[in-house]
Amino acid sequence: MKIAIIGATGTAGRATTHAAHQAGHQVIELSRAAGVDLHTGAGLVEALRGADAVIDTSNPFPINPDADLVDTFRETTTRVVKACQQVGVNRLVHLSICNIDNPVFDEFDYYLAKRAQEQVLTGSSLEHVVVRSAQWMEFALNPGAVTQNENEVRVEDWLVQPIAVDEVARILVESVTGAARDRQVAGPERIRLPDLTRALLAACNDQRPVIDTSPGLPALADGVLLAPAGAELLGPNVTAWIQTQDPVA
Ligand SMILES: NC(=O)c1ccc[n+]([C@@H]2O[C@H](COP(=O)([O-])OP(=O)(O)OC[C@H]3O[C@@H](n4cnc5c(N)ncnc54)[C@H](OP(=O)(O)O)[C@@H]3O)[C@@H](O)[C@H]2O)c1
Repeated sequence: MKIAIIGATGTAGRATTHAAHQAGHQVIELSRAAGVDLHTGAGLVEALRGADAVIDTSNPFPINPDADLVDTFRETTTRVVKACQQVGVNRLVHLSICNIDNPVFDEFDYYLAKRAQEQVLTGSSLEHVVVRSAQWMEFALNPGAVTQNENEVRVEDWLVQPIAVDEVARILVESVTGAARDRQVAGPERIRLPDLTRALLAACNDQRPVIDTSPGLPALADGVLLAPAGAELLGPNVTAWIQTQDPVA
């Protein structure tokens, strides 16, 4: 099957491209460097021509800091859906985040933007699968919760149930075929994000202290991001994942 991967240069996109090749698919890699801009639609229809399915792993933050995040994400997904319909793509697989519809996130712009993307899909006639993932192991150093300099790493005290991005990628590729059913995936164990960061830094021989900070949204510390009911819990666990990471001198 020929699969177009939107956001192929990103963390999830690179893993998904690898997983798709491993599964024997032909891959079209989409990103701005490949001439596709999701904010304008430039190059999108041309790039999708000939694709049987599309996996959207993009994270289309607006360039203009004054642009509305929710509108930008909504418009991007609308553009992707229309382009898929225009060239006859059979199925769109969309990467989202677990628990985004919890009311505690009603003021949380990024999750509102992710909700808006899902709403576009729900309202469209295009066959689609939404894969909602918990935070990834790789979130241990994500600027959304971590700030760092050469002396220290400050990490918001989120309680998470992280999954390796390679597993998420495998599920995204799996979702291209078979029955079109939405899925939720998370890791097998709970951990506080600063502890995950500590474990990763230790494995990389990084001596910087990790300092716990309080999240702006207190619920993030209370487990609101843990695996929701019905989620598939997929290994590796943190210890096994850390062992797969290349130590950095
Ligand atoms: N981090 C987590 O723990 C987590 C958990 C669950 C779900 N997710 C979701 O996973 C998705 C991917 O996250 P990520 O961390 O892999 O993102 P990332 O590393 O920031 O990569 C983003 C990708 O989107 C592409 N992109 C951004 N703006 C674009 C535009 N205007 N036109 C074309 N391509 C554009 C980038 O391509 P360029 O090379 O053109 O910049 C890049 O390939 C997000 O939707 C996020 O919500 C993340």
